[in-house]
Amino acid sequence: MHALSNILSILLLLLLSGSGVVASPAAAADLDKRQAVTSKYCKSGTSMCYLEYSWGPTIPVFRVAVPDSATTNAGFDTILQIVSPVSLTWVGFSWGGGMTLNPLTVMWPNGNGATVSSRWANGRIQPTTYSSATYRTVAASRNSTHWMVETVCTGCSKWSGGGLSATGVNTFAWAVSKTPVPQPGNAASSFSIHSNVGMYSEPLTNGKVPKAVFDAYVKGAK
Ligand code: HEM
Ligand SMILES: *[C@@H]1O[C@H](CO)[C@@H](O)[C@H](O)[C@H]1NC(C)=O
Repeated sequence: MHALSNILSILLLLLLSGSGVVASPAAAADLDKRQAVTSKYCKSGTSMCYLEYSWGPTIPVFRVAVPDSATTNAGFDTILQIVSPVSLTWVGFSWGGGMTLNPLTVMWPNGNGATVSSRWANGRIQPTTYSSATYRTVAASRNSTHWMVETVCTGCSKWSGGGLSATGVNTFAWAVSKTPVPQPGNAASSFSIHSNVGMYSEPLTNGKVPKAVFDAYVKGAK
């Protein structure tokens, strides 16, 4: 019985590898796409929860939280937290799922903290500063392997031509670079083009936080 099931498993394995289900020679980008995972991340023992996106160790983890009172195409604060490997010198997040015509949050390490820069791009060129979105930093730090920043944005939920859906699917996008930002202390600094980009679509459900908990959490942010 055992011998038979072993033989069957081996046959099954051969069949799967033959049909390409196991370790097929896919392009690296496709492989990365399959490994992307979205989930619900909560600070332990709290109802501070985030819609988490994670693509593997070379790409930052992106976490988004909103108050549960949020309504579609309305102005509400949004929290973005990223944890990035130190190999990345700037990380961008798009609230509308593409490079152009939506608020971009661009972040880079600065000493032991981080700079958060509000940007907008009308074309696929250096994005300009965007004053309709403002940010307050909840936390920022750096160690030998990672840098992280958590920021609360006022103005990232609604923009000219679009906004976040409170109930439906939203598409987000990201970009990363390995070229250092020339003036890390200056939120208006120029920076070079990304070395990798990606996008994902999810409802905000996993990142909905009771309004009072959300407000208390961002209260001390500057
Ligand atoms: C110097 C700054 C930048 C330049 C010159 C630039 C240029 C470009 C170009 C030429 C493309 C199309 C080709 C490609 O996919 O590589 C592109 C795509 C993209 N860029 Fe940028 N970019 C810059 C900054 C940013 C920033 C800050 C973000 C923030 C999230 C971003 C997000 C994206 C995304 C998501 C795509 C793919 C989707 C799309 O085309 O909309 N870029 N960029
Ligand atoms: C480094 O910082 C990141 C982001 O805060 C954290 O997740 C990680 O555990 C830290 N690593 C060490 C060794 O302290």
